[in-house]
Amino acid sequence: QPETWNGLYIPRYAAVLVMPWVVHRHRKLWDRPDAFMPERFHPENRERIDRFQYLPFGAGPRVCIGASFAMQEAIIALAILLSRFRFDVTSQTRPWPVQKLTTQPQGGLPMQISRRA
Ligand code: HEM
Repeated sequence: QPETWNGLYIPRYAAVLVMPWVVHRHRKLWDRPDAFMPERFHPENRERIDRFQYLPFGAGPRVCIGASFAMQEAIIALAILLSRFRFDVTSQTRPWPVQKLTTQPQGGLPMQISRRA
């Protein structure tokens, strides 16, 4: 049925999407939203992030059931790869986000890979 939410008219059968890309960069939610600040996610800062402010795995009844596995897998893969190899951007590397089913770097992310001594 039609709905009005927050002053916005939503017609019958409208698809309503939550865009994590937008939520994760919202100026009302984040300090310096476009800055690369991994320390936002350090254990001592996690409490300041609301459950619905950061939702890479969704939320609610259809939340990703593989979230814990994915996080563990990513940490193991990154720890092994980064301890053995260096990944450097090249002059051709121009990261630009494109929205597919997931957000991806346009044309991939070509990098110079070298073995660590
Ligand atoms: C970084 C990796 C991953 C990301 C970012 C991710 C993200 C998501 C998101 C956003 C959803 C939708 C949540 C919603 O509808 O609200 C989802 C659902 C789901 N994910 Fe993942 N996921 C990841 C890895 C995995 C892995 C490794 C598995 C399985 C081993 C998995 C299994 C599922 C399943 C089965 C659903 C559907 C849950 C349902 O509809 O009840 N995901 N995931």
